[in-house]
Amino acid sequence: MTTQRTLCIIKPDAVERRQQGAILQRLLDEGFRVLAMRQALISRPQIEGFYAVHRERPFFNELCTFMTRGPVILLALEREDAVQHLRNVIGATDPAKAAAGTVRKLYGSNVGENAVHGSDSDENGRIECGYYFSGMDLV
Ligand code: CMP
Repeated sequence: MTTQRTLCIIKPDAVERRQQGAILQRLLDEGFRVLAMRQALISRPQIEGFYAVHRERPFFNELCTFMTRGPVILLALEREDAVQHLRNVIGATDPAKAAAGTVRKLYGSNVGENAVHGSDSDENGRIECGYYFSGMDLV
């Protein structure tokens, strides 16, 4: 197994419910190292670029409106097998289908408001960390 980077976003729904501390502690307990962390209010063009792969999906507008309605926490994380491990920890996209104990089962409301984002591949982990953080931010 190799050390990888992955981007986690604690989404507006979780921040509104003041759950960012509990989610961050869970990530630390799972062995992730925080390379960079920032609270941000993401702009519409920024989130449309980030989720460009979903541009043609029927939920794209709803997704972008949700992700810009309040602050998020951006986290560049590092760990052995970080991408798959984060995906295991956060669980299925739809909280109703997520396994017991996963972050989305614990904190998500529905498939749109699902508390957290995690990169879906090694390549996207690097691309997505670079989307929100410059190399100098990563320590
Ligand atoms: P995320 O892992 O951030 O990647 C894309 C997001 O699109 C996903 O989490 C969900 O929040 C959202 N999404 C996926 N499917 C749907 C859907 N059917 N309706 C609304 N939002 C969705």
